[in-house]
Amino acid sequence: MKKNICRLLLIILVVSEASAEDDGFMRVDREHLMLNGSPFYGNGFNAYWLMYVASDPSQRSKISSVFEEASNHSLLIARTWAFRDGGYSPLQSSPGSYNDNMFQGLDYVISEAGKHNIKLILSLVDNYNYTGGKQQYVKWARNEGQNIFSDDDFFTNSVVKGYYKNHIKAVLTRKNSISGIAYKDDPTIMAWELMNEPRCPTDPSGNTIQAWIEEMGSYLKSIDSNHLLEAGLEGFYNHNKKNPHFEVGTDFLRNNEIAEIDFATVHSYPDQWMTGESDEEQLLFLDEWLSSHIKDAETKIQKPLLFAEFGKSSKDPGYRTSARDEVMAAVYEAIYSSARRGGAAAGGLFWQLMSEGVENLGDGYGIVLSQSPSTATLIQEQSKKLNQVRLMYKDHVFTNG
Ligand SMILES: *[C@@H]1O[C@H](CO)[C@@H](O)[C@H](O)[C@H]1NC(C)=O
Ligand SMILES: *[C@@H]1O[C@H](CO)[C@@H](O)[C@H](O)[C@H]1NC(C)=O
Repeated sequence: MKKNICRLLLIILVVSEASAEDDGFMRVDREHLMLNGSPFYGNGFNAYWLMYVASDPSQRSKISSVFEEASNHSLLIARTWAFRDGGYSPLQSSPGSYNDNMFQGLDYVISEAGKHNIKLILSLVDNYNYTGGKQQYVKWARNEGQNIFSDDDFFTNSVVKGYYKNHIKAVLTRKNSISGIAYKDDPTIMAWELMNEPRCPTDPSGNTIQAWIEEMGSYLKSIDSNHLLEAGLEGFYNHNKKNPHFEVGTDFLRNNEIAEIDFATVHSYPDQWMTGESDEEQLLFLDEWLSSHIKDAETKIQKPLLFAEFGKSSKDPGYRTSARDEVMAAVYEAIYSSARRGGAAAGGLFWQLMSEGVENLGDGYGIVLSQSPSTATLIQEQSKKLNQVRLMYKDHVFTNG
């Protein structure tokens, strides 16, 4: 009798553990992303414009069609903006005031991504001012009488930090008007991102950004412990010759070692960072940039690594599609060779996917798959390779070291 009860308890324990792992939430086990109990590798894309376009119900077919097209190319991850601060067509029109049309647009984006089995990374604010960003937050606080001199006070001023925390809470506790699921409980969301490309050039030591990530990371996790969190960093090191010729007050190693940060991110733009140097020189830099970050993610940070942005602008002097394909192929090869041996690189998100009819939102980096056959093939091949790696490691348990 006693023995049977023990057995029953054991079965219940095993079953409940299995269901916790099978709930569709992305998780992390040391330097591996995990989904439903197996290591996860996936190809993906950026499309910052999804919520904005979806906020107009007459445009929503563009969202479902872009997810369908992405899914046809076996893309599994999309990164997009969960912010538009002040200005034209905002999500948050002033601190704590939200435009429900815009939120309904985001509801639609999340619900469509879920239908196409695409996981979302949602970023919560921008370093730059295209749609508000840290500059708008600082303006709001200045209008309330705060003495603020620099946009970098975003990271330290307590009124501004309060506004940003309120935004975290507003987004995470939003209940999706289509699915009825609160964002913080929705497994379609793979991860939150604190900021797109946090930079604090006024404090090159990295201490300001470090403290901000720690504070905001633990605040976010206090509301939502279901989801992964990443900081949105570009990968610049603190005082290290591996950087391009500038520093922005971040530290790829120390920032990503913060306990609340679940995986590291890298952006790769040799075309912006080394303007004037040849494609060959840029590719040499890129290869070194990719391999040093993968190595550091494995040996120092010991967390998964996502190549969250890369691409090449058609506005670059002497641009050719073949040069863009070479940049993408270099990133894809670094990810694939790491993934194949069970390394830290979990996937890559090219910047950025556009669809026909939204080209006016482009920035030179846009890829319309139907108009770029060579790039579309490259993307699809990479998706297939990572899907094979995922099958190879299905149910695999990596042992330590
Ligand atoms: C996706 O693939 C299906 C089947 O090949 C095709 O009918 C559909 O038009 C594709 N969708 C898009 C948006 O390209
Ligand atoms: C954004 O910032 C840049 C540089 O700081 C500035 O020149 C530009 O006017 C700003 N744009 C907006 C919309 O505020």
